[in-house]
Amino acid sequence: MLYISLPKIRIATERVLSMENLSNLMTPITTISALVSLLPLLLLLRRLLRPKNWTNSPPGPTGWPVVGYLPRLTDRLHEDLHHLARTYGPLFSLRMGQRPAIVVSSPDVAREVLKHKDLTFSSRTITEAVRCVTYDATSLVFVPYGARWRLLRKILTTELFSTRAIELLQPARKKQVRGLLKMMYSSWQTKTPVNICDSTFVVSANLVSNLVCSKTLFDDTKKEGRELKEMVWEILEVVGAPNLADLIPFLKVLDPQGLKRRVSKVVKKFDDFFESLIDERLEERKRGVKINENGRLDMLDVFLNYRSDKKDDEMREFSRVDIKGMLSDMFVAGTDTSSSTVEWGLAEILCRPRVYKKVIAELDEVVGRTGRWKNPTSRTSATSKRR
Ligand code: HEM
Repeated sequence: MLYISLPKIRIATERVLSMENLSNLMTPITTISALVSLLPLLLLLRRLLRPKNWTNSPPGPTGWPVVGYLPRLTDRLHEDLHHLARTYGPLFSLRMGQRPAIVVSSPDVAREVLKHKDLTFSSRTITEAVRCVTYDATSLVFVPYGARWRLLRKILTTELFSTRAIELLQPARKKQVRGLLKMMYSSWQTKTPVNICDSTFVVSANLVSNLVCSKTLFDDTKKEGRELKEMVWEILEVVGAPNLADLIPFLKVLDPQGLKRRVSKVVKKFDDFFESLIDERLEERKRGVKINENGRLDMLDVFLNYRSDKKDDEMREFSRVDIKGMLSDMFVAGTDTSSSTVEWGLAEILCRPRVYKKVIAELDEVVGRTGRWKNPTSRTSATSKRR
C-alpha cells in the first residue's frame, strides 16, 4: 500500500512545486486580467447588496437581477401591493422583471402624480399585445401624449361625446337597457339564472357598436353576433394578460406564453371586421344611404368626413389605419369597463345586506312595487322627478 502511494505523493509534490513556480512567474498583467474577469461577478454582487432598486428610486423591496420582484408576487397582485405599501409607504418602487415600477397608494401622492406631474406620467405603457391591437400605438388610448393625442381627443369630445351627441344616442341606449330588463324579467319568471357578466357585456358592446357604426352588432341570437363577442373577449383577455416578455425583454423572441401568437391571430380577424365595416360604409355613402334619421353622425361618419387645412393640425384626414385604431380603442376601452362596473356594483350590493335593503327601499319608494319591470320609461321620469 505504502509502495503504491509513494509515486502518487511524488507526483502531487511535483504539481505543487510547478504551481509555485507558475505563481512566482505571474506578472502584474496576469493579475489585472484575473481581476477584470471577476468584474461581472463583483458588479452582480454589488447590485444584489445594494438597497436601492435604481438610482434615486423611492424605497421598495429589492428583487433579483433579472426577474426583479416577480417571483414574490402572487395572482392576487392588489393584495401583494397593499402589503408592500404597509411596509414601504404610499410611494414605493418595485422592479417587475427588468421594468421599473412605482406604486402609488394614497390620495395625496395620487394627486401629485396625476395632477401636478401629469405631463410626466400621462403616456401609457405599451405592451407587445397592445402594440398589435392599437396599430402600433397610434390610436387615442395609447398614443404618447402630444399633438396627435390632443387632436384625437378633441374630435372625440366635441363630435362624439358632446352632450348633444350623447342625447341623440339615447334611443339606442333605451333599446339596449329595455332589452336587458325584459330578458331579466322573463328569466325571473322561469326561474332561470342570469349571467350578469355576459348579458351586461353584450349591452355595453352593442352601445359601443351603435356609437361606432349605428348597428347592433352583438346579437346573441345570431352566429355572427356570438362570434364577434368571442373575438372581443379574446382580445380583452390577451391584452389584459401579464406577459413575461414585456417585463424581461430578451424573452420577446421566444414568446414563452404564446401571447404574441394568440394576439396576432385574433387581431387579423379584428382587422378584417373593421375593413368590412369601413368598406360597407363607403359603399353606403356612395349610394347616398341615410344612416341615422335623427341626423346623428356616428364614429365612422365623423372620421370619414374629417378634413383639416390647419397648418398646425397633426392630421389632414384619417387614413384607414387611423380609423381602425380608433374603432379598436372603442371596443377595447368601452365594453368590459362598463359591464365589469355593473357586475362589481351588483356584487358589492349583494354582499352587504344593509346596502341591499336600502336599494330595495329606494326602488320601492321611487318606482313602486307594481310595474317595476314592465315600464322602464316611467321609472326614468320618476327618478328625475325625485331629483
Ligand atoms: C364604467 C365604464 C368605464 C370606466 C370605469 C372607464 C375607465 C377609464 C379610465 C380609468 C380611463 C383612463 C383615464 C385617464 O387616463 O385619464 C379611461 C380612458 C378612456 N376610456 Fe373609459 N371607462 C369606461 C367606459 C368607457 C366607454 C363606454 C368608452 C367608449 C365608448 C371609453 C373610452 C375611453 C377612452 C377612449 C379612453 C382614453 C382617453 C384618453 O386617453 O384621452 N370608456 N376610461
